[in-house]
Amino acid sequence: MNSILKTFLSAALLLMIGITNAQQKAKTAEDQEEKIRTLISQMTLQEKVSLLHGNSKFYVSAIKRLGIPELALSDGPHGVRAEINRDNWAYAGWTNDSATCFPPGTALAASWNPGLAYERGLVLGEEARYRKKDILLGPGINIIRSPLCGRNFEYLSEDPFLISKMSVAYIKALQSKDVAVSVKHWLANNQEEHRDSVDVTMSERALREIYLPGFKASVMEGGAGTVMAAYNKFRGDWCSENDYLNRQILRKEFGFKGVLMTDWSAAHTTVKAALTGLDLEMGTDKNDYNEWYFANPLIKAVEEGKVPMAIVDEKAGNVLRVMFKTKMFDEEKREKGKMNTPEHQQAAYNSAAEAAVLLQNNGNLLPLHFDKLKSIAIIGDNATRKHCGGGLSSEIKALYEITPLQAMQQKFGATVKINFAQGYEKQSVFKEGNNSGQSGAAKVDWKLIDEAVKLAKESEVAIVFAGLNHDFDTESSDKQSMDLPYGQDVLIREVAKANPNTVVVIIAGSPVKLAGIVYRVPSILWSWFGGMEAGNAVADLLSGKINPSGKLPFTLPVSLEQSPAHALGNFPGRDLKVNYEEDILVGYRWFDTKKIQPQFPFGYGLSYTDFSISHFTTDKSSYGKSETIHVKFAIKNTGSRYGAEVAQLYASDPVCTVLRPEKELKAFEKIFLKPGETKMVEMQLKVGDLAFYDESKKGWNTEAGEYILQIGNSSRNIFQKVKISVR
Ligand code: BGC
Repeated sequence: MNSILKTFLSAALLLMIGITNAQQKAKTAEDQEEKIRTLISQMTLQEKVSLLHGNSKFYVSAIKRLGIPELALSDGPHGVRAEINRDNWAYAGWTNDSATCFPPGTALAASWNPGLAYERGLVLGEEARYRKKDILLGPGINIIRSPLCGRNFEYLSEDPFLISKMSVAYIKALQSKDVAVSVKHWLANNQEEHRDSVDVTMSERALREIYLPGFKASVMEGGAGTVMAAYNKFRGDWCSENDYLNRQILRKEFGFKGVLMTDWSAAHTTVKAALTGLDLEMGTDKNDYNEWYFANPLIKAVEEGKVPMAIVDEKAGNVLRVMFKTKMFDEEKREKGKMNTPEHQQAAYNSAAEAAVLLQNNGNLLPLHFDKLKSIAIIGDNATRKHCGGGLSSEIKALYEITPLQAMQQKFGATVKINFAQGYEKQSVFKEGNNSGQSGAAKVDWKLIDEAVKLAKESEVAIVFAGLNHDFDTESSDKQSMDLPYGQDVLIREVAKANPNTVVVIIAGSPVKLAGIVYRVPSILWSWFGGMEAGNAVADLLSGKINPSGKLPFTLPVSLEQSPAHALGNFPGRDLKVNYEEDILVGYRWFDTKKIQPQFPFGYGLSYTDFSISHFTTDKSSYGKSETIHVKFAIKNTGSRYGAEVAQLYASDPVCTVLRPEKELKAFEKIFLKPGETKMVEMQLKVGDLAFYDESKKGWNTEAGEYILQIGNSSRNIFQKVKISVR
């Protein structure tokens, strides 16, 4: 057979296999829909409705008669939450629900490694199945709009593209373990203050370009099984009964066929919510589950003809579809799950290790050469504080949590004298629902500072573990300010005066003000809330066993006033209304367009080695609107250590009929390189990805003309640019 014929035949065979697979998939889907229709046809109205509301804090009733199992839900998003009592919020006191605790959302995003999001998804899926859960409530993917939002630590980024990449990987992996995700909080839950009453408005363009893409990708690419409607209102209607969001966008545009559930106690009506696309009511604050909006009142509404039976059937069908998807009707074939395996713990470590961002390293003080050191002073409450158990709904009963001090003692204590001083005291208290517990937490405690200074003087190196805790980074309230609490600025200043070899490690999940310390200390490492392996990871980063490779997933402003929502005075809003006046200029889009110098830019992070990026080219100079742009560049590790760089591709549209952000992230890749090694890297983006949302046309618009592609390692550090034109 000649080679042309061979190629032809194998292509034909591949095509046939492709068709057969596609046909098979379509058949399985049709069979499943048939089973769903059959089950629904056998149900009474009462039974259908029983699938549409919780019958306890985190469960939905079984219909035993028809073999429909109970649906079990659990928080999310960075671990499987400990078991909660069925009928109240107290923990059930199980002894087998200690879980693997990952570093929360911003830390995940800071790794800029979707592979780690995937690895985390697999672990969470296995642990959720071990605990016999069907839905894990995460990922939380709201845009980080203000440095103050209490839940920033759970969320991912200020950039919709970075969010989308991480979220899709997480979802695909988690759902491959026969558990459904619940992408939350749909939509515009960008503050905790008045979260259950605030009415958010924004332009259609901001909605399309900034706030929707993460959800769109999670549903359309990730295949998210469920979505959680937020507490707040959007353009006058509660998110749980918002026709535009739920029917128009989620169902029609995104083609979502899964379950739209409420956040816990976010339902407000029966008829309106039923007609606008809500499927499942959870967490309503009424002891009698039959009184919930989607319980007896829904039965009554159907009987009175206010809600058509077809709508109830649709909702029951959505619930059953998630049950089929997660193999709830096929327990034999279903993932059995595992808990706390060494692989799970390794994944938690990997995530912490790749998240840390080296912000500053003057004179290469880091990594520390522990083999040559005789003494170090470890200072700060965060050196000994455990964080996994805080933050409210995302809190995890971690199997263990290694603190920085424990890890340092264990790894280096045999040869290095490790002195500890608390440095500052946690003066705040956590209060659910408001941030008053943060008030008065700025007292400078000179007794603790004097002790720390004394130790710093006696030691060769001082490491201050500073930052926040979950009294600040928490669900249910926002931070009062961006300041480091408890007089930490003063502590760091005094320690740095006493010992010039002072390293600051920031443990926090949202932006804090560093202006008071950047000029005082040579090195700053941002290590986030690091999950159960926090201490081990940070010790290995400080010693250089691991080379920092994280990059900021948000802009770190010098002060709060620099950041868009605050510069324009529209956070947290007035009279329970907030209009996102900064529009599409969120995060670096604002800073770069307005030429405001932040403390550290989006995408920024140093390494113990150096990288160069060169030979940046595109495959063509002119493109049609439906084409794909292929870019190429060389990246070299020019230093002497193994490390990773995150190459970031930004695009600008310098001449446009509407304002465009100075640049926007369009692709990125984390590249691991040995010392001296060079790699050629290729990235792709569709010409359509250069579009803006054109309100006049109610659609995306890629205008013909010139665009500039830029390759860099932060939004402010661009190595090379290439001009292209679009026809
Ligand atoms: C949170 C959700 C969470 C739910 C259940 C709500 O207060 O906003 O993110 O999944 O509680 O705990």
